[in-house]
Amino acid sequence: MIDSLALPTIGILGGTGKEGKGLAYRWTKAGYPILIGSRSKEKANATASEIIAMLGSVAKVQGASNHDAARMANIIVITVPYSAHRETLLSVKSELQGKLLIDVTVPLNLSKITQVQMPPAGSAAQEAVEILGPGIDVATAFQNISYELLLQEKPIDCDILVTGTSKDARTKTLGLVTAAGMVGWDAGAIENSMVVEGLTSILIRINKKLGISHAGFRITGTSEKESSI
Ligand SMILES: NC(=O)c1ccc[n+]([C@@H]2O[C@H](COP(=O)([O-])OP(=O)(O)OC[C@H]3O[C@@H](n4cnc5c(N)ncnc54)[C@H](OP(=O)(O)O)[C@@H]3O)[C@@H](O)[C@H]2O)c1
Repeated sequence: MIDSLALPTIGILGGTGKEGKGLAYRWTKAGYPILIGSRSKEKANATASEIIAMLGSVAKVQGASNHDAARMANIIVITVPYSAHRETLLSVKSELQGKLLIDVTVPLNLSKITQVQMPPAGSAAQEAVEILGPGIDVATAFQNISYELLLQEKPIDCDILVTGTSKDARTKTLGLVTAAGMVGWDAGAIENSMVVEGLTSILIRINKKLGISHAGFRITGTSEKESSI
């Protein structure tokens, strides 16, 4: 049995949305204490109640403002649309000092969603590093996994590529990938996130072509070696 007291608290900025709720569900199920962050405490509480309804009253999940989620959590995950990325990070910057931020943001160009278009910094993740400055470790993960899969009980046929500003950031994030029931791969420096973020547009294109909603990637040819490297 997992001892929740020994697990870090995860705060999810924009945790009321599709991807944030999916991740919150997975980590709550794994025993992590979760703070659902939102601009509206009422909305956050409603999402927390939905997860409790799915998992039962033992679920350690509660709603909070984004600010309080960032202040009270040990690890902070951001799952907001790209248009809200900068503003949300700036609003919690002082609360993130000395902590790990996991960025799930994809800078989708909503008028051409199937075409990769990165911001001047190189990627949303590199923008996060620029916005936050030194003193905050940034990792990226889950940009290629559909929220629909996160909310299903079936095994997830999709691997997760993890980048980060330090080995420690990537290792902690890989632990959370495993806890969420997926296979993770250390994809290296945060600069590599531009590739991972870009892959999302290609997956959306495949989804549109096939009329499906959750195409994903899997690293192959590694069966004799350990995953989550
Ligand atoms: N959906 C997926 O399957 C998926 C998969 C991989 C990656 N992603 C990435 O994950 C991120 C979140 O995607 P999503 O589909 O979960 O988004 P979403 O449901 O549209 O929005 C997530 C949350 O962001 C907050 N938000 C929305 N507009 C905002 C604004 N203008 N300012 C501040 N906060 C705002 C809202 O929370 P409050 O109103 O409660 O504050 C909302 O519930 C995106 O960057 C997306 O590209 C999504």
